[in-house]
Amino acid sequence: MRRFVPTIAVVSLMALMAAACSSGTGGSTAAPAPIVVKFTHVAGDFTPKGRAATRFAEIANERGKGRLDVRVYPSGQLYGDKEELEALLANNTQFIAPSIGKLIAFDPRFQIGDMPFLFADNAAETRFWDSETGKQLLATLAPRGMVGFTTWPNGMRQLMNRTRPIRTPGDMRGLKIRVPSGGVQVDTLQVFGAGASVIPFSDTYTALQQGVVDGTLATFDNISVEKYAEVLKYLTVANVNSLSYGVIVNKTFWDGLPPDLRQILSDAMTESTALARKLSSELEAESLASLRKSVDVVELTPEQRQQFVEATRPVLTKYESILKPELLDAARKANQ
Ligand code: LMR
Repeated sequence: MRRFVPTIAVVSLMALMAAACSSGTGGSTAAPAPIVVKFTHVAGDFTPKGRAATRFAEIANERGKGRLDVRVYPSGQLYGDKEELEALLANNTQFIAPSIGKLIAFDPRFQIGDMPFLFADNAAETRFWDSETGKQLLATLAPRGMVGFTTWPNGMRQLMNRTRPIRTPGDMRGLKIRVPSGGVQVDTLQVFGAGASVIPFSDTYTALQQGVVDGTLATFDNISVEKYAEVLKYLTVANVNSLSYGVIVNKTFWDGLPPDLRQILSDAMTESTALARKLSSELEAESLASLRKSVDVVELTPEQRQQFVEATRPVLTKYESILKPELLDAARKANQ
């Protein structure tokens, strides 16, 4: 048998490997690579959600001192509405913050904020999610592999369309409106005599521009950041329902973190949640003020709004058996 005689190439390789070990890239003295944490969402960077997610990452990265590498991917860059839940469950992303009604596939009760005219305002929905009843509902995500951390608000959803000013439910007849998720929101538009189409958020501008739909339900912030005023002319301030994001974490990832890093992320979440909530109320007013310059804004009189409320009674009746008195009572209590 030929004896193994190291060639120059092999010797060089061995020397390189030894050098790599002693310089720390593979040796025991090396600092471990930071834990990469992806936070993916579909909204713009300058929305309350976008800004709060960025702040969350900044705080966590600073306090993690090189052990955490939190990266935020906004605007559906990595995953859109359809993919983000699957990506979370597969631990391809660790944090997501979809509008909470998009969890309809797990449990239709998550649509409570989508219920027409149930919450008086977005702050009331936040109080609901912070209540024992809200927390218990978020906790039902745990056996499904998710931690429902908290909620971030984004305002009330309004009616926007290209065709005509909307002052009564009858004005909605025949319009086709984009909604973020099915169920309650589809039923709501149907009682107005409109059609509803579930379209992912990232595809909405194009769908509006190309006339696939005539309008959308959306918050002032999203209308403004997504530039819907470029393609739609009429905005009715109806406060149809309330948009809150469920901030959700992959449970296996979360449970597997060293306790001190979990604490850092928890604290960062508490602080960014306070920011999200503050920004949401501030930016909502700012966004409406700037929208007034570019679109026709209809403010409903109390009588006109009441017509919309009356028209949606059948939706409330339909979902009473799903939401049960327990949830509906907690929602109404949050309005007070
Ligand atoms: C929507 O689909 O309208 C919203 O959920 C988008 C978002 O995340 O703000």
